[in-house]
Amino acid sequence: MERTLVIIKPNAVQREIIGEIISRIEKRGFKIIAMKMFLITKELAERHYREHMGKVFYNELIDMITSGPSVLMILEGENAVEVVRNMCGATDPRKALPGTIRGDYGMRITQNIIHASDSISASESEIEIFFREEEIVDYRLAAEPWI
Ligand code: CMP
Repeated sequence: MERTLVIIKPNAVQREIIGEIISRIEKRGFKIIAMKMFLITKELAERHYREHMGKVFYNELIDMITSGPSVLMILEGENAVEVVRNMCGATDPRKALPGTIRGDYGMRITQNIIHASDSISASESEIEIFFREEEIVDYRLAAEPWI
């Protein structure tokens, strides 16, 4: 089982589509083992997006992710990192295929609806940035292990 971090970004919260996105994730068969809504601080945003520091879009990226509340989740499932990235679609929503989250709900790369960890090591460090160990819930779904 792998874990991955998902951020439903502030623009998706403003557009009132968090339920649709969470629903897709649940229906696909992932187990949500932690979830919270909060306003990401500049300090956390800078830690999370440190690899993009110095890029032309960096300031816009930090402004966007701190512009309002986000919904953050830890998902658990087989090949969670790769499968969730595929569900999100290409980083640029205009290039994302229909049927993907970005391809169905987005048009602008900075406002691309959702972030998902791009590797297992990234997921480990991203989970550590945003969640404390006691916020992760250990439970079984009735459908396990078939989902
Ligand atoms: P995300 O998955 O959150 O990871 C980094 C983010 O940077 C990415 O989604 C986009 O929102 C943003 N991003 C990546 N490339 C560009 C770009 N060329 N111009 C503007 N924003 C970008």
